[in-house]
Amino acid sequence: MTTTELAQEAWPQRFARRIKRMAGPWGVFLEGFLKEPVMVGSIIPSSRFTIAKMLAPVKWNECKLFVEYGPGVGTFCRPVLERLPRDGQLIVIDTNPLYIDYLKATITDSRFIPVLGSAADVEEIIRAHGHDHADYVLSGLPFSTLPDGVGEAIAAATHKVLRPGGAFLVYQFTAAARDYMARHFTHIDAGFEPLNVLPCKLYWGWKD
Ligand SMILES: C[S@@+](CC[C@H](N)C(=O)[O-])C[C@H]1O[C@@H](n2cnc3c(N)ncnc32)[C@H](O)[C@@H]1O
Repeated sequence: MTTTELAQEAWPQRFARRIKRMAGPWGVFLEGFLKEPVMVGSIIPSSRFTIAKMLAPVKWNECKLFVEYGPGVGTFCRPVLERLPRDGQLIVIDTNPLYIDYLKATITDSRFIPVLGSAADVEEIIRAHGHDHADYVLSGLPFSTLPDGVGEAIAAATHKVLRPGGAFLVYQFTAAARDYMARHFTHIDAGFEPLNVLPCKLYWGWKD
């Protein structure tokens, strides 16, 4: 925006832009929620307690490809990149262009690949980046509000792309995701994190 355009901007837009800048990633997350409330499903990113508990069972030394669905503003991306081996890759997939543009602008790690698309297309997305299988897939998707058929398609595609011994890591406010997972994963561990807005359920579906 040029200086002249800035001077001509109406005060409500100026005010909104200032609030968004002050709120940082939370402001971007909220803006994404206001545009697509059903697809985002939460007004606040996950807590550090949820992140630590969800990632605890991951064997990082065996992880070459970590995939994340619904990264939002990257709440999990930084902690994953901190733990990922130097020759690993993190592919994140989100349907919201606001979030993908934000991630491209703020995370410059060469192992990080943000993709605008749907988690249902995970197989072709990882193939396009030279992978046959993923070691771990993490999901923050709001399974209970996804359009009909999408949750089922995502659970099936995820089971297909995981290598044996890999896991589907899922956090959600409701148990909806577990029902989709149970159609494909015979071994599912469950947990709960109260220190999150809202408190959330955690699932680890292990591929046989
Ligand atoms: C609850 S937010 C995730 C928040 C973030 N991971 C965190 O921990 O704070 C859900 C995200 O899923 C994305 N999303 C919804 N449907 C999707 C789909 N089919 N494929 C990929 N991303 C999707 C939304 O755009 C949003 O970024």
